[in-house]
Amino acid sequence: MKVVAFNGSPRKDGNTFMALNIILDELKSEGIQTELFQLGSHQIRGCNACFLCKKTGDGFCVIDSDIVNKSLSAIYESDGLIIGSPTYFGSVTPQVKAFIDRAGYCARAGGNKLKRKVAASVAIARRAGSVNVCHEINNLFLLNQCIIPASKYWNIGVAREKGEILNDSEGIDIFKTLGSNMAWLLKKLNA
Ligand SMILES: Cc1cc2nc3c(=O)[nH]c(=O)nc-3n(C[C@H](O)[C@H](O)[C@H](O)COP(=O)(O)O)c2cc1C
Repeated sequence: MKVVAFNGSPRKDGNTFMALNIILDELKSEGIQTELFQLGSHQIRGCNACFLCKKTGDGFCVIDSDIVNKSLSAIYESDGLIIGSPTYFGSVTPQVKAFIDRAGYCARAGGNKLKRKVAASVAIARRAGSVNVCHEINNLFLLNQCIIPASKYWNIGVAREKGEILNDSEGIDIFKTLGSNMAWLLKKLNA
């Protein structure tokens, strides 16, 4: 079993990266393979609305010059996915939004390629807006028939400067619980 994670922050080693790694460590301790993609440090084009993904139906995007198709391949070969984003003006980063639109449409047009994958969202904020970020990412999962595991609170961390997330003990507990519940669910589904 494998889970792929996407760091939607342009800060490669920031708080979102650290939060994702807390979840991935939990998954690894349960024997689940993991891989992390640095989505936010790439230039990602928005959806063209060309609808060629509907014509080809291959689950990939006609824009082949950025990280989206490579990410989609990794997701299709995995059992689960996690998308993490810092909160930017109460929303996901532009890279995550572009990824949601293109990945979401291509996967649906390709015959619902995300159907029943176990999927979780993670959001980091200095103060506010992170719950909305989780909702925005969850929209991708819900409209693609994913199965969303829960933790004991929204999957949010509170941090501003790089590394501050490590002081958020409640956040760390939420992420560890999420990783543990995700592993439990994956094992049940693949039993
Ligand atoms: C452009 C920009 C917009 C931001 N908007 C918000 C916001 O709306 N609410 C908030 O609480 N924090 C906001 N922040 C703070 C970040 O969410 C916070 O620093 C977070 O820890 C960054 O995560 P990272 O280290 O993974 O990049 C913003 C930061 C930037 C750069």
